[in-house]
Amino acid sequence: DSKLREQAYEAVKNHHGDIRNDPYYPSYHLAPPVGLLNDPNGWIQWKGKYHLFFQWMPFHTGHGAKFWGHYSTTNLVDWSLEPIALTPSDWFDKNGCYSGSAVDDDGLLKLFYTGNVKDESGQRESYQCLAESADGVTFSKKGVKLELPEGYTPHFRDPKVWFHNGLWYMVIGAQTEDEVGSVALFESEDLESWTHRGMIAKADRPPFSDLGYMWECPDLFELDGQEVLLFSPQGLEADRIDFNNQYQSGYVVGRLDYEKAELSHDPFVELDRGFEFYAPQTTMDDLGRRILIGWMGVPDQNEAEQPTVKNGWIHQMTLPRELVLIDGRIHQLPLEEMKNLRASKSFSEDVKGEWSGSISRVSELQLEGEVEEVQLFDYTTLRYDRQTSLLTMERPSYVDGSLETRSCRLPKGLRHLQLFIDHSSLEVFVNNGEEVFTSRIFAKEDNRSLQVKGELNVQAWNLKNDTID
Ligand code: FRU
Repeated sequence: DSKLREQAYEAVKNHHGDIRNDPYYPSYHLAPPVGLLNDPNGWIQWKGKYHLFFQWMPFHTGHGAKFWGHYSTTNLVDWSLEPIALTPSDWFDKNGCYSGSAVDDDGLLKLFYTGNVKDESGQRESYQCLAESADGVTFSKKGVKLELPEGYTPHFRDPKVWFHNGLWYMVIGAQTEDEVGSVALFESEDLESWTHRGMIAKADRPPFSDLGYMWECPDLFELDGQEVLLFSPQGLEADRIDFNNQYQSGYVVGRLDYEKAELSHDPFVELDRGFEFYAPQTTMDDLGRRILIGWMGVPDQNEAEQPTVKNGWIHQMTLPRELVLIDGRIHQLPLEEMKNLRASKSFSEDVKGEWSGSISRVSELQLEGEVEEVQLFDYTTLRYDRQTSLLTMERPSYVDGSLETRSCRLPKGLRHLQLFIDHSSLEVFVNNGEEVFTSRIFAKEDNRSLQVKGELNVQAWNLKNDTID
């Protein structure tokens, strides 16, 4: 354990400074100190502090035997890097401390995660493991709590645990033996021994006919009196404006009957319309907000071609977002605290026709009115077509420069856009969270250009540059 940890700290010490100097490294989004970051894990507010763990490969920019890195914050704006939480050093997690979640158990912070193991012949094994901490900084592993039940392949991972009516529940992303994506539900009285209650959703069960061969990173929670099941299915084919990324991420809304272990639910809806978004996780804070953070990346989507790889790092997290349910659809709003990112107001302009100006690479923009087109850094364009009600984002592919697009339909038109720009990332909140586009943007680093078309008001703020310690 200690040798691997030392090597990881060594990698940070040797390369973090250079990486922070990369003009594409974010100022206020969480990114890896070095190497590759993927899924958000163990997202929780515990004893007044928010903790966000992350899938982390410190030694290179590919995937592999993941650590759990750890960031914390009290105000959701200023973050600190904490000591490594989990190291892939035991027989049950030697090929990766894979994704999982956190709960408070009577004052102890408990992490459930998947121990990923490959045997000598390369066969995968999957163990659901526990680690705990009394101080929120140092974690001790408590070993395997759940082995692979019958009926599933070893693609069985990413436990999300919650408490309901006196019992603990866990959902796990799974693949059935006939290679169909699904979510398995477990129950426990003490977080130690777990009973398999059944499969609460499955890719070939109505309303689905074929929603993929594997579902990763499930999350189940109550929102506005209904249950929401988030998951990230693999194996969907692009269908016009839908399912255009390598893998998807979305949700169903329904009702979970805990007695019968049955979830009745509506069709699948994609959570985000941008180029890079996957494996989100939520938690509820002491203000009663359901807060989501997603990974601003997609597995196997030309990751090795991303321009930051040559500088020794790749990927970042989205901003934390508050979820609300409106007419059966999730809306995602930047947290109120994101206003504290504002360092200064740069301008407010009333535009009629065409307007161009410049903005910081670390900024927030709000556009209100009839927006026809926004072009950022001579690189990415958002265009609204009133005829088709389609809002489309366009950017040159970082693989070969060809233009690629992602779109969403806005049945009630476009009234408001809020953009968060952070060197090489862009989050676009449409109509106060009705839709979101999350994407990496690799514009020329010195380009500051902004062009706007329509009849609208546009405001911009410079954001803080120093939110990560
Ligand atoms: C999703 C995922 C999870 C897994 C983790 C490994 O991106 O593949 O299913 O636990 O990443 O890093």
